[in-house]
Parts: sequence; structure tokens; C-alpha cells
Amino acid sequence: MIEEPLQRHFTLRAPAFERSAGWISDPGLLQAITSAVRLPPSARLLDVCCGTGIVGAAFRELVGRVEGLDLTEAMLAIARKHLDAVHRGSAHQMPFAAGAFDAVVSRQAWHLLEDPALAVREMARVLAPGGHLIYAHAVPYGAADEAWMRQVFLARQPLATGFLLESDLRHLLSKAGLERVCVTEHLLWESIDRWLDVPDLSQPTQEQIRACYRNIPAETAAVHPIEFSTSGSIRDQWRWVVISATKPRGDAP
Ligand SMILES: C[S@@+](CC[C@H](N)C(=O)[O-])C[C@H]1O[C@@H](n2cnc3c(N)ncnc32)[C@H](O)[C@@H]1O
Repeated sequence: MIEEPLQRHFTLRAPAFERSAGWISDPGLLQAITSAVRLPPSARLLDVCCGTGIVGAAFRELVGRVEGLDLTEAMLAIARKHLDAVHRGSAHQMPFAAGAFDAVVSRQAWHLLEDPALAVREMARVLAPGGHLIYAHAVPYGAADEAWMRQVFLARQPLATGFLLESDLRHLLSKAGLERVCVTEHLLWESIDRWLDVPDLSQPTQEQIRACYRNIPAETAAVHPIEFSTSGSIRDQWRWVVISATKPRGDAP
């Protein structure tokens, strides 16, 4: 079961989680997520794999109610301060009635799921007809950086069950019966020194990842911008996608 090691990992990271990478509180990325779909002010929104609740909190002024669900109590202890309610549980089997939410949002978490297709079906189940699912994830620019980025990201997060491409996200949404898939792109510079500075990532693994950056193939660097400072620090321009889709209204009269 992957969920126990994940809980241990995120329990360790919870106190410093929000400072552990630039993307976590990047205002531009949060803006891209909150503006992906226009929601009514009365909307009930669920943040799945909410972590410390940063994404859900960005919707607080925009919708009627924001709840969060996550596996890790130490993350929820922080999210509880930002959201209307939080629930401890797995995205694979959520403790909510069908149609309980008008919107579901999630960010940078589906690569940690044992069965992402099952979890996305769960997210679709708890959406009301006409409701929206919004997901944000860092993905490759294209075929030229896919293998390199897969190697870097799986080394940085060995608990990942896979490495997701934009095409995988589209497929997951449509397999869950969602339609009107819409994608926007958001580029942001990430400090790789900060991103590697997590408590349970060994020094040799950090060094191995730095070596991947130093030895990036020319054809990869041509599509995926990286910067090296004279002091040796590394910045990487990550490509984020914000993907949204809508639950069909069905044949209601
Ligand atoms: C990388 S963090 C992202 C947190 C948040 N979505 C954000 O963008 O700030 C991933 C989160 O997913 C949670 N998680 C992982 N697997 C889960 C599962 N099966 N069900 C619910 N939460 C899960 C972890 O506990 C962790 O808080």
C-alpha cells in the first residue's frame, strides 16, 4: 500500500511544505487555477489531495464553501485554518454523496495515486451534473524533454506511481465521463536548490538530480529552459497545465 509511506513523507514535510517550492504559493499559478472556470458565488468546492489547503484557500472569496480532503493529518492540520471543513481520507474512496459539490479542484497529486483513473472517477462522482473538475500539474513541454523530466521527477519523488503527461490528464478526464476539456498553460521558474531541499531526500540523490541538470541533452535544453548561476544554483522553467472539464448534465427535463 503506497498510502502509508506517503503519509510518513508528507507528515515529515508538513511544517515546511509551503516553503519547499516556488510553485506552491505562486500567485500566477493560483490565478490560472481560480480563473480556469467561472463558478457561481454559491458554489460548493472540494479540494482533493488538498495538502495545506493553499489551492482551496484561493477560492475562498469566490465561492460559497470550500472543503478539503487529504490522506495526511499533519497537512490537514494546516489546511483546517484556511478551509471551511477538512476531511481525512483517500481520493480513491471519498466520504461524500454523489453530486455533493459544484466544483472539484486538485493540484500536483495524481502522480502519487495508486489508481488515478479510480480517483478521477470518484471526483466525477461527487460532482453535481454541470459541475467542473480543475486540475493543475507540471508536465513536459513535449517529446524532447519527456524522458529527461521523467528521470528527474521520479528521482525527486520515489513514491510517485507514475509520471503524467498532458495527454494522460486529458485521457483520465474523458475516461471519467467528463467533457469540454480545456487546457491553459502557465510557465514558472522554479529554484531547483529549494525543490531538492526536502528532509527525506538523500544527499547522493540530490547530487544525482543536479548531475541530470548539468548533463541535460542539448535537444532537451532547446525546448525546456534551465539557468545555471555562477555560484552553481539551478533554475528550471516548469511548464504547468491547468486542465478543466465538465460533468454532463444528462437528460434531465
Ligand atoms: C504534493 S502535495 C500537493 C498538495 C496540494 N494539492 C497543493 O498543491 O498544495 C500532495 C498531497 O496529496 C496527498 N495525497 C497523496 N495521496 C493521496 C490520496 N490517495 N488521497 C488523498 N490525499 C493524498 C498528500 O498527503 C499530500 O498532501
